[in-house]
Amino acid sequence: MNDTPTWRAADGPPALSRRTFMMTTAAGAGVAATGDAIAAPAGATANPHAGAQATRVIVNGRPRELALEPRASLLDVLREQLGLTGAKKGCDHGQCGACTVHVDGRRVASCLTLAVKTDGCTVTTIEGIESPDGTLHPMQQAFVDHDALQCGYCTPGQVMAAIACVREGHATSDAQIREYMSGNLCRCGAYAGILEAIREAAPQMRRSEGARHA
Ligand code: FES
Ligand code: FES
Repeated sequence: MNDTPTWRAADGPPALSRRTFMMTTAAGAGVAATGDAIAAPAGATANPHAGAQATRVIVNGRPRELALEPRASLLDVLREQLGLTGAKKGCDHGQCGACTVHVDGRRVASCLTLAVKTDGCTVTTIEGIESPDGTLHPMQQAFVDHDALQCGYCTPGQVMAAIACVREGHATSDAQIREYMSGNLCRCGAYAGILEAIREAAPQMRRSEGARHA
């Protein structure tokens, strides 16, 4: 004799199985939801930017008008919508610095920055720092001169962070440079060259930018 409890009532009709119960309930809910749906007006077309937020931003000197998903990161918008792939996605969690760009002159981790928050701002990426005639920025040139890279994946973020480090006044000693560049990781270990590059470019930047702002 089998005494295993079942979903069948003692002498009545077969009870609903758990599976049947779930399917029946779900189907009923579907009918109810369909019944409550608001019909779209005749002739309406789907809005391809439903939920998008209008955002005006100047990227590397060029005004852009974008319709952005509120949840999109600045890094993804730069790379996937604007084709600016210099900023790299290393960790996507604000831990490696590979995605560093400048927003209104301040360095930010673009993977942690909501693109819609840059509305009305100026964004500068590694693509926007050379001179109009193609001359490299002094920091870029110093990275080249000091072999401050190996695979190069971290380099755009390192250069953008280094420029900010100098402008913040945090590049007056090796210890300061190490401290204020510590958010930018290099898995190739090119730190010695990066330090030398910043040491060399810092006075050049101070001279040229001081003259420009004088
Ligand atoms: Fe943004 Fe690593 S990708 S900090
Ligand atoms: Fe390869 Fe820095 S040069 S990660």
